[in-house]
Amino acid sequence: MAQTWTPNSWRQKPIQQVPDYPDLAVLESVESRLAKYPPLVFAGEARRLKQALANVSEGRGFLLQGGDCAESFAEHGADTIRDFFRAFLQMAVVLTFGAQQPVVKVGRIAGQFAKPRSSSVEKQGEVTLPSYRGDIINGIEFTEEARVPNPERQIMAYRQSAATLNLLRAFAMGGYANLENVHQWMLGFVKDSPQAERYRKLADRISETMDFMKAIGITAENHPSLRETDFFTSHEALLLGYEQALTRVDSTSGDWYATSGHMIWIGDRTRQPDHAHVEYCRGIKNPLGLKCGPSLTADGLLELIDLLNPANEPGRLTLICRFGHEKVAEHLPRLIRAVEREGKKVVWSCDPMHGNTITLNNYKTRPFERILSEVESFFQIHRAEGTHPGGIHIEMTGNDVTECTGGARALSGDDLADRYHTHCDPRLNADQALELAFLLAERMKGGRDEKRMVVNG
Ligand code: TRP
Ligand code: MN
Repeated sequence: MAQTWTPNSWRQKPIQQVPDYPDLAVLESVESRLAKYPPLVFAGEARRLKQALANVSEGRGFLLQGGDCAESFAEHGADTIRDFFRAFLQMAVVLTFGAQQPVVKVGRIAGQFAKPRSSSVEKQGEVTLPSYRGDIINGIEFTEEARVPNPERQIMAYRQSAATLNLLRAFAMGGYANLENVHQWMLGFVKDSPQAERYRKLADRISETMDFMKAIGITAENHPSLRETDFFTSHEALLLGYEQALTRVDSTSGDWYATSGHMIWIGDRTRQPDHAHVEYCRGIKNPLGLKCGPSLTADGLLELIDLLNPANEPGRLTLICRFGHEKVAEHLPRLIRAVEREGKKVVWSCDPMHGNTITLNNYKTRPFERILSEVESFFQIHRAEGTHPGGIHIEMTGNDVTECTGGARALSGDDLADRYHTHCDPRLNADQALELAFLLAERMKGGRDEKRMVVNG
């Protein structure tokens, strides 16, 4: 029944969230230039990620996915990338210890530039302009000029992604990600945290484990796995012309891959089964994410699973659930039951950010307690259903911003104005992100202790 797929078959389908480019000739010329540029990632890497996610789907791993809501051209710099990676790796260490399982590390980075918008226009006072759709499409400044979609921005986004990825690969493989370093940073965080007492116990146990390994001769010098890490990239595949230009045949397998990033996902607003975004994604072999919000029915989900993963291949599909702290208990169980009933292999991941956005003092913000509450419910529900809470998907930065309220430093609504820098949604700052990792690790450990008690009767 499925029609033949080609990298451009999505163009025959209805589509949401497309920018209104004034000059289609320029757009075409950009797309054909991009089509000749080197791929950003290599198919073999995407297969490796899929294998790692297959393990997660079978309960043997945890997915940590995070980064900016939207990357920006203005904030492209080594410090921003380094600080993000530093915070992210610390979370990974804490979660690895908490889960006692490998953590699959996937950044929302090196390609996360296009944003779906709830309205195609933005009104400020008497002035109405096209909405900002991400730096790959138009500018964030509220001027008529900036808001015109400009295809040349796709070339800039491609180049920024290449440079970002280059630095991340160097960090991951060149010594910066050495476990010993990450451990020291993590201790520094604990020491300075207002919640130091609470986090110290777990941190001390990690330190003991590191000392034990050293004592028996396992060091970064003789074990590359201690000084290197696998880091993957991901973004929402929203701007399909750009994605198509970077879609290439893998010479090893003959299969099509998106080479704009290792994993791409479909947003909650563009997941109509007969529309363009699902059509594009079904034909490429990368691991896929699917955002699942409150409006997704169980049958709707099963239909999408059949389209996106007809062979029921583990690791292919990650369901990124974003219901909101008050709605997760209503929606998650019905989806889990449908997926279990049909024997579908998926990774269950929790995005506790997008369902918990509120407006406070004219700022879009997210209270840390609600974020934590949604993740905790996600874990509880999976435990009750006997399924694996496979991962989290968060918006975070390594910078010391004030965008989400709460956390150990108890940021209030009045603090938001201090350092509110996001180009789109509010992100956890480095401390809040790491705190979330500690709180989850505690909970994971609690879950294991409980299981052990049951086993030992
Ligand atoms: N290579 C292992 C891993 O990626 C251990 C490791 C090295 C690590 N550096 C790390 C883990 C930094 C987390 C963070 O899991
Ligand atoms: Mn967002």
